[in-house]
Amino acid sequence: MATKKICVFPGDGIGPEVVREALAVLGTVEKISGTCRFETEKDLLGGASYDVHGVPMTDRALALARASDAILLGAVGGPKWDVLPFEVRPERGLLTLRRELGLFANLRPAVVFTPLVDASPLRRELVEGIDLMVVRELTGGIYFGEPRGVKTIDGVETGTNTEVYTRPEIERVARMAFDLARKRTGKITSVDKSNVLESSVLWRKVVSEVGAKEYPDVALSHMLVDNCAMQLIRNPRQFDVMVTTNLFGDILTDEASMITGSIGMLPSASLGGKAGLFEPIHGSAPDITGRGVANPLATILSVAMMLKYGFDMPAEAAWIEGAVERVLAEGYRTGDIHREGEGKRVGTTEMGDRVRDAVQKLSQKR
Ligand code: IPM
Ligand code: MG
Repeated sequence: MATKKICVFPGDGIGPEVVREALAVLGTVEKISGTCRFETEKDLLGGASYDVHGVPMTDRALALARASDAILLGAVGGPKWDVLPFEVRPERGLLTLRRELGLFANLRPAVVFTPLVDASPLRRELVEGIDLMVVRELTGGIYFGEPRGVKTIDGVETGTNTEVYTRPEIERVARMAFDLARKRTGKITSVDKSNVLESSVLWRKVVSEVGAKEYPDVALSHMLVDNCAMQLIRNPRQFDVMVTTNLFGDILTDEASMITGSIGMLPSASLGGKAGLFEPIHGSAPDITGRGVANPLATILSVAMMLKYGFDMPAEAAWIEGAVERVLAEGYRTGDIHREGEGKRVGTTEMGDRVRDAVQKLSQKR
């Protein structure tokens, strides 16, 4: 039997709570599938690592991630560590991990589950059936560009960050997005700010060239990011695959999550290296940490992405996705997606249990 090594970083805040449920679902899949063994090993990342080791990621943790077939992450960060210098902030651990593993493409699907159409703050007719995929560049742009820092220049405190993109960086993420578009509806929107930023001028040029040369069958359009932010609310249905820079992708995917009803629903896969990193797009949610109310579905769906994109186990991934849909159809809701007077409000653990039951039922129908 094949064995897959999974490095698990529960992280901070609600991270450990939602990761626990996701791992339990994975365990159920392992048992039922019987084709693959999942070997998990945990380590600290983010504030949890800082508290013990004084750094947000140790060399040992990075080595563990490198030696794995996939990485599952909860969330990092929290107000407790906000006072720390940047180099040791929890977020730095995650950013370094992404960069060191060469995970240049971050896939963030925003799917509206039919039972949740009314959980979205947008009108039903706008969001029904929405299924879009944002491909966010993840290891370049203003997150990593030099120079950076806060300095006093001529007596004036000055904070600097630099948006840098090279042709190869744009080409590789564009190819990843075009490949996805080809497998989906053959439509892609590239998002930039080429009316103001030179890095975006290059972005648009390179994406156009890759499209024209290598993907003539895919319909490419371009959109400025401010307009895109508006269009996502006005008419999200016009989008299928979107490809954009690190910062724009960070912002647009939080926005896109609200189309689906809650940021607690959105998984992600970071690809491009030897092993993929799978994590919910939400943060550590310090306000609800330890109360057992966090929505574990984004992390559970991240495990589905791990099976699909990391281990080429699409059938098992589909069990999980189907199970989530079913549980929602049965009316189970964590607080973030619950509306007064409707459905059954449940906590983190019960939601996880329900998904596991549903996986079992769905897999029996094989
Ligand atoms: C995300 C998060 C991270 C990011 C933070 C925690 C560094 O917001 O994954 O979207 O900005 O990439
Ligand atoms: Mg973000």
